[in-house]
Amino acid sequence: MSDNESVFGGGVMTVTGGASGVGEGMARYGATLGMKIAIGDIDLAAAEAVAADLRSAGTEAIAVHTDVRDATSMDEFVARAYEELGPVTLGINNAGIEQFGYLWETPVENWRRLLDINVTGVFNGIRALVPRMAAAGVPANIWNVSSIGGFGVAPRQASYIVSKHAVLALTQCLKLEIDAAGHDIRVAVVVPGPVVSQIFDRAGGTETGDSEAGSAERQAMLASKEVAMPASEAAEQIFTHAAAGKFYLHTHPEMSAGIMNARAEGLRSQSAPQLSDQQL
Ligand SMILES: NC(=O)c1ccc[n+]([C@@H]2O[C@H](COP(=O)([O-])OP(=O)(O)OC[C@H]3O[C@@H](n4cnc5c(N)ncnc54)[C@H](O)[C@@H]3O)[C@@H](O)[C@H]2O)c1
Repeated sequence: MSDNESVFGGGVMTVTGGASGVGEGMARYGATLGMKIAIGDIDLAAAEAVAADLRSAGTEAIAVHTDVRDATSMDEFVARAYEELGPVTLGINNAGIEQFGYLWETPVENWRRLLDINVTGVFNGIRALVPRMAAAGVPANIWNVSSIGGFGVAPRQASYIVSKHAVLALTQCLKLEIDAAGHDIRVAVVVPGPVVSQIFDRAGGTETGDSEAGSAERQAMLASKEVAMPASEAAEQIFTHAAAGKFYLHTHPEMSAGIMNARAEGLRSQSAPQLSDQQL
């Protein structure tokens, strides 16, 4: 039995945004470890397709229409997982969206929507998960999905970067709060590098049309998909770091370390951020 299987097998996972990309990868990988899977996604048809596929391979899996922006919807999703699958041992707050373009050209509605999904969605997940996990008396895990973008700064994705810094800080604070409260919950932050998903195609600018700078950034990011890691491989990496008891759950540990070190050095030397050649 692998370490990942012995640590997580037999448990129950909730994952928001589990109908696609990184979340789907974690749902499918969790199922291979023998977990029961609850997928909460705003796209119910896509979530149900993944759950049905898992069920056909013998996994207990449910799909629940969930909008992470709505505290009640998030609460109902987690409640369904407890009722139908049992005590949740791994709650993953994963749903997230992107936004391209300069800050001053970002539609107010898109800024609000992104922060609602990427940040408030994680907060709503914690409010739904922690009290139930504490009451169940079963050791549990909470993972919040940030990004390598949570360590660095970059132009033309500022709202996304802001949200991922927020998720990292929120998760660091949550870890301290769980320790202070004495709950048997292990907290970790998922910090993926480039993973195959639909996030760039769906980035917020689509709804109102990209600005010129936003469109160029979208094309550059779509091109980077060529070297992106398959979600199945990303999920295995994430679980392996978690099974080893790490707080930072990487998909690309070396890329993460480079950005973390550059960030630390920038703060230590108190120097202003500078554009790289690729960012001009
Ligand atoms: N793909 C990458 O390279 C990458 C890198 C770093 C971090 N991430 C993070 O991974 C997470 C998942 O992104 P992805 O790349 O798999 O994107 P994706 O677009 O493929 O999947 C996102 C999922 O979230 C769902 N969703 C969107 N809004 C929602 C809402 N309001 N409520 C519930 N579900 C909602 C979508 O329907 C979709 O199924 C995000 O938090 C993203 O920031 C991704």
